[in-house]
Amino acid sequence: MTYIVNDKCIACKYTDCVEVCPVDCFYEGENMLVIHPDECIDCGVCEPECPADAIRPDTEPDMEEWVEFNRKYAEMWPVIITKKDQLPEAEERDGETGKLEKYFSEAAGEGG
Ligand code: SF4
Ligand code: F3S
Repeated sequence: MTYIVNDKCIACKYTDCVEVCPVDCFYEGENMLVIHPDECIDCGVCEPECPADAIRPDTEPDMEEWVEFNRKYAEMWPVIITKKDQLPEAEERDGETGKLEKYFSEAAGEGG
């Protein structure tokens, strides 16, 4: 199994998650992070750290698409291991629905 980041991260990107991951498997896009499913060791420590509740185990129903989404972008974006400031609109966007359609950017983040 693996954990994945879902669309609740989009336009928030709090990055608390990267501080606790023992294998540094978070990758940074312009406005969200993803987890590389082949690198995640399923420890679960990142899940409670996310203020937006964006990290879920793939044992929940209908997760295949999110696993593939996370894999696709983890292979395109740079690794991030250091927490940085959340996005300026994070509080306003936290909890909003339809974020994938409204805000998702395929552009890579800076990593770091
Ligand atoms: Fe990293 Fe563990 Fe979270 Fe996987 S479950 S992304 S290994 S902290
Ligand atoms: Fe995103 Fe939550 Fe990490 S908002 S950057 S998955 S702490």
